Amino acid sequence: MHAFSLRNCELGVATAATQIEGGHARTNWHRWAEQPGRIKDGSSPVRACDHWNRVDEDRELLKALNVKHYRMGLEWARVEPSPGVFDSTAIDHYRRELGALVDAGIKPLVTLHHFNNPVWFEDEGGFLNAAGTEVFQRYTQRVVSALSDLVDEWITINEPNIYATHAFYFGVWPPGVKSLRTLTTAYTNLAAAHIDAYRLIHSLQPQARVGVAQHLRVFRPRVAWHPGHWASAQMMEWLFQRVITKAMCKGRFLAPLRQPAGIHPGHYYDFHGINYYSRSTVTRLDDGVGADVPINDLGWEIYPQGLIEVARWLDDAHPGPLYVTENGTANSDDGFRSRFLYEHLAEIAASDLPIERYYHWTFIDNWEWLEGESARFGLIGLDYETQERTMRESGRFFAEIAANGGVTEDLYQRYVAHQIYSTNSRIR
Ligand code: FCB
Repeated sequence: MHAFSLRNCELGVATAATQIEGGHARTNWHRWAEQPGRIKDGSSPVRACDHWNRVDEDRELLKALNVKHYRMGLEWARVEPSPGVFDSTAIDHYRRELGALVDAGIKPLVTLHHFNNPVWFEDEGGFLNAAGTEVFQRYTQRVVSALSDLVDEWITINEPNIYATHAFYFGVWPPGVKSLRTLTTAYTNLAAAHIDAYRLIHSLQPQARVGVAQHLRVFRPRVAWHPGHWASAQMMEWLFQRVITKAMCKGRFLAPLRQPAGIHPGHYYDFHGINYYSRSTVTRLDDGVGADVPINDLGWEIYPQGLIEVARWLDDAHPGPLYVTENGTANSDDGFRSRFLYEHLAEIAASDLPIERYYHWTFIDNWEWLEGESARFGLIGLDYETQERTMRESGRFFAEIAANGGVTEDLYQRYVAHQIYSTNSRIR
């Protein structure tokens, strides 16, 4: 009754360079974390998972998870520590990491930009500066040329909407800008950067598969019949995800964006990356979480059907292969992660959409931006002090699903049946 098969959907796990590598790379996030009060627990990406020095140990753990795929990022600040100067030792390090993955039968999907800028790029204006897209092309050209014998799947930019809103509208991420004008500028330049990178990568590597990892949410009005709630939900969906996906997939810039010079309508994706976590409940002024819904440690609603709702919307708007490039939950005691996994994968199994991949966020507990070390999203637990890694029960469950290509009744009874979610007792 609870069993399902994932048929054509293969499993992987996902990470991002700044969140796992550790060390003193000169990124916007390393600098931001040095400012008192910016990060909830005062931690910084300097510690993280020390993955830079533990690549081999972590590859053994990836093998233990039985995954066929691994999504990872590159730290631009390591590869290009000052403008136009590339560090061959950093590139060689990634070559060794990627080569060993390929030898282990694990296919890499590489993210070029995951919220992480070298400080010199940020100080030149980053993606607020139209010339920033050319600087991004220089980096893209160098790393794709250097890695194309090992990698043929690329994500140009991770979650342009989350990045642009947090960095340039709410001002809580570096560089801390708060303005609607900068938000639309950032959207436009990020979309242009993707389109240029899409073309460039194909010119270097014609068989490559290139896409964007879009953060997609479900927006529902708190009171369905309330015109203000309904209009706000529509508007948020438009501004947060419809406009940006259209610009990046098709090169068409709808209001409030304007078509940039030199960017023409076309087809700029080989797959869609979907990062899906939650649903927003919208009132007139705010998006929040409804009452009596299941929530995770960070108070995010757990709404598995939403994965298929957003995937269907995207597939209708811009048909193409779908990769769930992130999905996971903050759950420090691992008491409901297996249920979360089960319910989201069951949605994929039951759907007729062309979902080819599911990358769980995340492989190992890591440095979660403003939440620092406090949010635990890993299939593998991390003791930050000792750097000891421990496979969680949900990690064992995931490994069994990956080996089986689905969930059996026995697996469900062992890992999921006893798990329950916390619920939100009040509207937030
Ligand atoms: C996504 C990010 C990822 C991680 C998860 C929890 O928005 O892409 O780096 O922070 O959320």
